[in-house]
Amino acid sequence: MNQKDYWDGVSGTKTFTTPFQVEEFAEYVSKDAVILDVGCGYGRTLNELSQSGYRNLIGVDFSEGMIERGKRQFPQLDLRVMENSSIGLADASVDAVILFAVLTCIPDGAEQRALIAEIRRVLKPGGILYVNDFLLNDDERNLKRYSEFADKYGVYGVFELPEGAVVRHHDEDWIQSLLSDLTKFRYERLTFTTMNGHRSNGFYFIGRK
Ligand SMILES: C[S@@+](CC[C@H](N)C(=O)[O-])C[C@H]1O[C@@H](n2cnc3c(N)ncnc32)[C@H](O)[C@@H]1O
Repeated sequence: MNQKDYWDGVSGTKTFTTPFQVEEFAEYVSKDAVILDVGCGYGRTLNELSQSGYRNLIGVDFSEGMIERGKRQFPQLDLRVMENSSIGLADASVDAVILFAVLTCIPDGAEQRALIAEIRRVLKPGGILYVNDFLLNDDERNLKRYSEFADKYGVYGVFELPEGAVVRHHDEDWIQSLLSDLTKFRYERLTFTTMNGHRSNGFYFIGRK
């Protein structure tokens, strides 16, 4: 299944869950900053930022279904469909970017690097990137699916969900390498509840261009 079709298909039903440390974000990003949420889904994080007093908010997502739901649920938000992997904003035009549970949807390492490069393009020098995502787990259920799909996808931690999505749980070394062009302020491990109600290892990262 095409990954965009999967996210369009579940756009009316899924609730996204990775936690947002909004107080820590506020230590680095002022209320008048231009903030871009990449892979914003239906806009739940932007809505939280809006409620915390942030005003210059933009969300982009490649799923038209997610953007339509977001516009219905949070009509005050500026939500846009992302075409051809391009963010569609000028170079160095954004003060901060949020990337929550999006890397997990992009199994291929080169595609992840291309997305981070596109984010760096739109960030101003000194701009902030806040990422959260899933890490590898060591419970039986996860170990079984990692080994089942490792050969098919060539990356340990990539697996198919029964409903058709291909997702990735990441090795920490990979995440450190992916984000190594940014100056790291914070990196913490967390335990997440997934959109399907399971527990998973995860992390959040706050860094500067
Ligand atoms: C797990 S959801 C998280 C949504 C949102 N960031 C949140 O935390 O509420 C992942 C989102 O990323 C979007 N997405 C996945 N791959 C993408 C890509 N390559 N480019 C843009 N958006 C993508 C999906 O459509 C989906 O809305």
